[in-house]
Amino acid sequence: MRDQAESLRLRLLKMQGKKEAKVMAVVSGKGGVGKSNFSLNFAINLSKKGHSVLLFDMDIGMGNIDILLGHSSKVSFIDIFEPDMSFQDIIKSGPEGLSYISGGTGLSNLFKLDRDKLDYLLNLLERLSLQYDYILFDMGAGITEDTLQFLLSVHEIFVITTPEPTSMTDAYSMMKFICSKENNADFYLVVNRAQSTEDGVSTLKRLSQVMKQFLLKDISLLGFLPDDRIVNKAVSRQIPFSIFEPKSKISISLAELTDRYLNGLPNDLEKKKPASFITKLRTYFSER
Ligand SMILES: Nc1ncnc2c1ncn2[C@@H]1O[C@H](COP(=O)(O)OP(=O)(O)OP(=O)(O)O)[C@@H](O)[C@H]1O
Ligand SMILES: [Mg+2]
Repeated sequence: MRDQAESLRLRLLKMQGKKEAKVMAVVSGKGGVGKSNFSLNFAINLSKKGHSVLLFDMDIGMGNIDILLGHSSKVSFIDIFEPDMSFQDIIKSGPEGLSYISGGTGLSNLFKLDRDKLDYLLNLLERLSLQYDYILFDMGAGITEDTLQFLLSVHEIFVITTPEPTSMTDAYSMMKFICSKENNADFYLVVNRAQSTEDGVSTLKRLSQVMKQFLLKDISLLGFLPDDRIVNKAVSRQIPFSIFEPKSKISISLAELTDRYLNGLPNDLEKKKPASFITKLRTYFSER
């Protein structure tokens, strides 16, 4: 019954000629580099610009986004399989019209679902991708075989690193792993916690040069964000930094980075129309 209603809603949206959302995943090699803060505040900035955005917290069991927003709710994405729960029940409202879904038990369980649940979930995801302009997945650090397949389905992979050599090395290893499976993944690099403009620019350049030299891969340089004490304060107050202190260095840098993203980076011009996220996911699951 629920499945039928879902297929009907989907058909209606398709008939209305809705376009599929741009789907991005925010990842890092090393943990704690600022993925969740970036994802949340970038999503808020996209919303502020009038786009409809869904932020999906995929960090297993951590509930990062809930904490950063000072919200507490036990409902998470895996609860859609509970009787009488609809997708609307697990989509929460964030600032600036942002929608978000808490991770709860996270992505690893997605790959252990039985066929019926998986089909139901893929239909729901397809509907969401017709409802929103952007869907952003805040992923956990590192990568597994399962998350790799998921990452290969999204349109854009945002890689966050800090200028620390360990963080850069881990970011490189992760991109190398992804490229070993599919070389046409679209990477967007963000350097977080830069100590200066020079620090940010040289980190962006160094990573993009090694990608080019050793993997023959061009990546898009989205920009850098400064190290700013405001982030820590905002996290402690459980208010997203771009709302807590919109005039801070980091909020201004992120607003500029968002504009640059929306205006299209030079590499974007050559890009083909993105393949369907849902089609890629379905193909992966049907081949398993
Ligand atoms: N630009 C910044 N300036 C200063 N501190 C920062 C900045 N970005 C992040 N931090 C600090 O790093 C901490 C971790 O950030 P965040 O939770 O966003 O990282 P993460 O990559 O999502 O972590 P995890 O891998 O655990 O999911 C923040 O609580 C904050 O103290
Ligand atoms: Mg996080």
